[in-house]
Amino acid sequence: MKVLAINGSPRKNGNTATLLTTVLEVCEKAGLETELYQAGGRDVHGCRGCAGCRQNKGRCAIDDWINELYPKMKAADAIALGSPTYFFDISSEIKSVIDRTGYISRADGFSFSRKVAVGVSAVRRAGGITTLDSMQRFFLINDMIVPGSTYLNMSLACNPGDAEKDDEGMKTMRRLGENIVWLLEKLHETL
Ligand SMILES: Cc1cc2nc3c(=O)[nH]c(=O)nc-3n(C[C@H](O)[C@H](O)[C@H](O)COP(=O)(O)O)c2cc1C
Repeated sequence: MKVLAINGSPRKNGNTATLLTTVLEVCEKAGLETELYQAGGRDVHGCRGCAGCRQNKGRCAIDDWINELYPKMKAADAIALGSPTYFFDISSEIKSVIDRTGYISRADGFSFSRKVAVGVSAVRRAGGITTLDSMQRFFLINDMIVPGSTYLNMSLACNPGDAEKDDEGMKTMRRLGENIVWLLEKLHETL
């Protein structure tokens, strides 16, 4: 089984990357395959609403990195979205992932259905809850299954390296990883 993490921060080695890597490490130790995809820093296009994805099943009419990412999301058993909190919400890159792959997946037979999905955010001070909420609404209206952790999936962190110093944030990420593993095992043992 595979867990795909998508880093929506342009800071490749920043705090969001630390959070996602912490989750992935737990999954890897449990024997799951993992991949960290760097979305942050790529050129962002919004959904054009052209419905091209309904004709070209599984592909966006704008032929960029989203067409590389979508098949990875479709193939994954669990997806972790990571966004820095930018003005109380997700980064532009994560918004592009949500709008475009969300629309493609619905045109492609609701391909995200019953995948395990989590969102994590690095936030200096305030706005992490709305950032997490933006990602969770995406999961919940796309028929995905969302596990929790022992606190909200965020870390109070400003400069790269800060996330590692937030003990509670790190503990929350490790437990989140454990819950992804636990849930995937439960879901697959009954199939
Ligand atoms: C454009 C921009 C907007 C931001 N908005 C907020 C905000 O609304 N609230 C907050 O607490 N921090 C805000 N921050 C700080 C980041 O959330 C914080 O530095 C975070 O650790 C960045 O994660 P990263 O290292 O993965 O990029 C903002 C940073 C930038 C660059």
